[in-house]
Amino acid sequence: MPKLVSKAIKEPRERRGSRVRTVVLKKDCPQELIGTSEQMAALHSQMRQVAPTHATVMIYGESGTGKDLLARAIHELSPRQGKPFVAVDCGALPETLLESELFGHKKGAYTGALTDEAGLFQEADGGTIFLDEIASASLGVQSKLLHFLQEGEIRRIGENQPRKVNARVICATNRDLEDDVKEKRFRSDLYYRLKVITLKIPPLRERGGDILLLAEHFRKAYSAKYDKPVRRFTRGAIKAILKSPWIGNVRELQHAVERAVVLCQGQHLDLVDLEIPTLPAKGKSRYREAIETKRRELVEMALGESHGNITRAAASLSMDRTQLRRLMMRYGIQGSMSKGRPKGKA
Ligand SMILES: Nc1ncnc2c1ncn2[C@@H]1O[C@H](COP(=O)(O)OP(=O)(O)O)[C@@H](O)[C@H]1O
Ligand SMILES: [Mg+2]
Repeated sequence: MPKLVSKAIKEPRERRGSRVRTVVLKKDCPQELIGTSEQMAALHSQMRQVAPTHATVMIYGESGTGKDLLARAIHELSPRQGKPFVAVDCGALPETLLESELFGHKKGAYTGALTDEAGLFQEADGGTIFLDEIASASLGVQSKLLHFLQEGEIRRIGENQPRKVNARVICATNRDLEDDVKEKRFRSDLYYRLKVITLKIPPLRERGGDILLLAEHFRKAYSAKYDKPVRRFTRGAIKAILKSPWIGNVRELQHAVERAVVLCQGQHLDLVDLEIPTLPAKGKSRYREAIETKRRELVEMALGESHGNITRAAASLSMDRTQLRRLMMRYGIQGSMSKGRPKGKA
């Protein structure tokens, strides 16, 4: 199997000899979606309503907000629990490979198709298929997906006869699909079909008390993992955690706490252990300045390459438009070139 394929499939597990790509969730350890904020409580209740149905679900959220986790939770809470949960990162595969991976192919359908091969939809039969970064799917894949959603059948590449498949589809995106629709990169009929049930995961910075709840959760988890008696955060660290914008959301917080636990030399996790880059300069100012400078350079470079197109620049930086706009505001970069809109409105 090409290396790329295994990279695109999350948490791979050996199945069918060398084909490494699906994950069947263990019943006994579903990972918890932590959060008691109003926003997360609302999300929990939506999730519980939607999960037991067979409805297609669209998950929208910035990178690191927990889209994977939510997709898995929906599967776990559905009657499909115990059946395959197949996660595919649509952005990690070249177009042709993605189509073949998802829908399968007939022997000889293209150079390199040496045997008949079932696709991931068939592997997900009875269970759930999670299409992450759906905005990256080619128009060809989009039309096959639409056909599947309408008819419940797929066609392997190079075959004429359709095959019935019973898989629930969950999609996720971290960027605004409306722009892709306008620019004809995403089929509008598929877009309207997918967005019927959309679950929005709020960015971490809008979740109030959840930030500390999660920080505590990760502190305990990593103290146990690394066998270090890190008992609490100092007040300075707590203040900093609450103040940071967490552009990378829960993932960034998780990594910051993990790193801090590893580096922490006493029982109290302090501000300096956390190394949160956007804190007001204090102690490690040169380090923070360097990070800010680098970040600004990357933003400018991406905007330059995209000729000011914010959507494309954001995609190349693996962030969404809102995140990029926030950075542009922070660094005072004008969005005037974007799609010819007037200054300040881009
Ligand atoms: N509400 C949450 N509770 C606990 N862990 C979370 C939560 N949200 C995200 N995480 C953790 O943060 C990391 C990033 O989440 P992930 O689902 O991969 O985000 P996304 O798919 O949106 O980029 C993962 O390690 C995940 O387990
Ligand atoms: Mg993800």
